Amino acid sequence: MNPDMGHSPTTSSDALVVFGVTGDLAHKMIFPALYAMAKRGVLNVPVVGVAGSKLSLAQLRKRAKDSIKQAGKIDDRDALEHLLSLLRYVGGDYNDPGTFEELKQTLGDAKHPAHYLAIPPALFTNVIKGLGAAGLADQARVIVEKPFGRDLASARELNRIALSVFKEDSIFRIDHYLGKEAIMNILYFRFANSFLEPIWNRDHVASVQITLAEDFGVKGRGKFYESAGCLRDVIQNHMFQIAALLAMEPPAYQGYGAVHNEKAKVFQAMRPLQSDDVVRGQYTGYRKELGVAKGSDVETFCALRLFIDSWRWQGVPWYLRSGKCLATSAAEVLVELKPPPQRLFDDSAPTEGHANYLRFRLSPNSAVALAARVKRAGKEFVGDQHELYLLEEQPGVETPYERLLSDAMAGDGALFTREDAVEAAWAVVDPILETHHRAYSYKPGGWGPKQADALIAADGSWHNPVLAKTSK
Ligand code: BG6
Repeated sequence: MNPDMGHSPTTSSDALVVFGVTGDLAHKMIFPALYAMAKRGVLNVPVVGVAGSKLSLAQLRKRAKDSIKQAGKIDDRDALEHLLSLLRYVGGDYNDPGTFEELKQTLGDAKHPAHYLAIPPALFTNVIKGLGAAGLADQARVIVEKPFGRDLASARELNRIALSVFKEDSIFRIDHYLGKEAIMNILYFRFANSFLEPIWNRDHVASVQITLAEDFGVKGRGKFYESAGCLRDVIQNHMFQIAALLAMEPPAYQGYGAVHNEKAKVFQAMRPLQSDDVVRGQYTGYRKELGVAKGSDVETFCALRLFIDSWRWQGVPWYLRSGKCLATSAAEVLVELKPPPQRLFDDSAPTEGHANYLRFRLSPNSAVALAARVKRAGKEFVGDQHELYLLEEQPGVETPYERLLSDAMAGDGALFTREDAVEAAWAVVDPILETHHRAYSYKPGGWGPKQADALIAADGSWHNPVLAKTSK
C-alpha cells in the first residue's frame, strides 16, 4: 500500500511539540515511544513539551526517564541521553497567548513542527486556536488524540475548528488500534488471499462477533472515564475501525487513499443504533473508583447488535462487545459461516458450536484460525471441530505509538482517521448516546451482564476468547 492520501509532497517535521507532556498518556505511551524511536535512530528533532505546570527541564527529563523505566528497561544509554538532549519545556496556560509566544521562541528555526495534542478533549479547541493565532500552524501538522469529539455535533465542530487552522492532510487523528500489526493484518489477509472473497458476504457469513475484553478496571482514570464510558472510549473508534476493515469492499487501487474511501463507506452504511441494539453494564465497585460519581450510570461494558446495510452485508448481524473487569484481556473477531445446505450428518451445523468459522486473534497475541469439521475415526459419521491455526509471532515490531508518531512526523496519513469517517462513525452511535437503559451491574471476573447473552440469543451465543494457544 502506498501512503497516497492525496497530500502534498511530504516534508518531515522538524520539531515535535507535545501538549500535555506531564499527563498520563505522555507518561505511559509517548515517552516510551520516543525512546524506541531514538533507539532506532529516527528521532533527531527537538521535542518540546508543553503543560500547565511550572517545571524545570531537569524535572521533565526525570519524568521522561521514569516513564521509560516503568514501561520496560533502559537498555540503550546513548539513545536515552540522545532523547533527553532533545527535550525542551514550555510551561503555561493554554488560554494565554503568552504560552504560544514562548513556544514560538522555543521552536526557533523549526518551520514544520508537528503539534501533538495529548490533552483532554475539552482543551483541543483552545490549543488549535492558540496555534493558529500565534502563526504556529502554517506548514505545521497537528496530531489529535482520541476521543475526537463526544458525539456527532461536537466532532463536526472540532473538525470545523481544526480545518479552519490546518488542512485536512495536516491533521492526524489518532486511533492507536490502526497502528497495531494484528489489525493491519486484517486488511492484508483479506486482500492478499483469493480464497476468502467468494465467501466473504451475506450468502456465506452467518454473523460476525468482535470482542475487546479487559480484565482490569479503569485504573485511576475514573475522571476521564466518567466523561466517556465504553461506547465512546473504545467502540465508536477502535472496534468500529476493526469492523470497517472486515466489512470494507476491496480498495479500488493500490494506495491508502482507496482504503480510506472504502472504510468511510462502511460507516456510512452502518444502520444508526437503536436503544434495543445495546446492552450497557457497569462492574460492581466502579462507583468507588477515584473520580467516579456515587450514582454514576456510566457503562464500563457495552454490547451492540449492528447492521451494515450494504450489498455485501445486508441482513448479517454484527455483534460487538467490550468491557472492563471481564474474565480475561483479549481481543478477537469471530466470523461464523452458514451451515452446509443439507444436514447429512447428525452432528453437522447448525448445532451450536459446530459451524465453520474464521477467527482473528488480535491481542494479546496475533493469530488467524480457520475452524473446520473433520471426521473422527470409526463407523459413525461424527466429527470434531479443528482449527487450522496460524500464529503470528513477530518480535521487535514497532508499538502503535512509535509507528503512528513517526508516520505523522513524516506526513504519512495512512493509519489515521479521516474527517468523513469519524463523523459517519459518530452518526451510528449518536442515537444511543443519551437514549438507553440504565447500566446493569455485573460482577468483575465474568463476561458482563446476562442481558448481553439475550442480545445475541437469536444468532447463537458469545464466543469468549480463551488464552490457550490452540483452543477455540
Ligand atoms: C484506549 C482506551 O483508547 O484503549 C482504554 O481509552 C483502553 O480504556 C485501551 O484500555 C485499549 O487499548 P489496548 O491497546 O491496550 O488494547
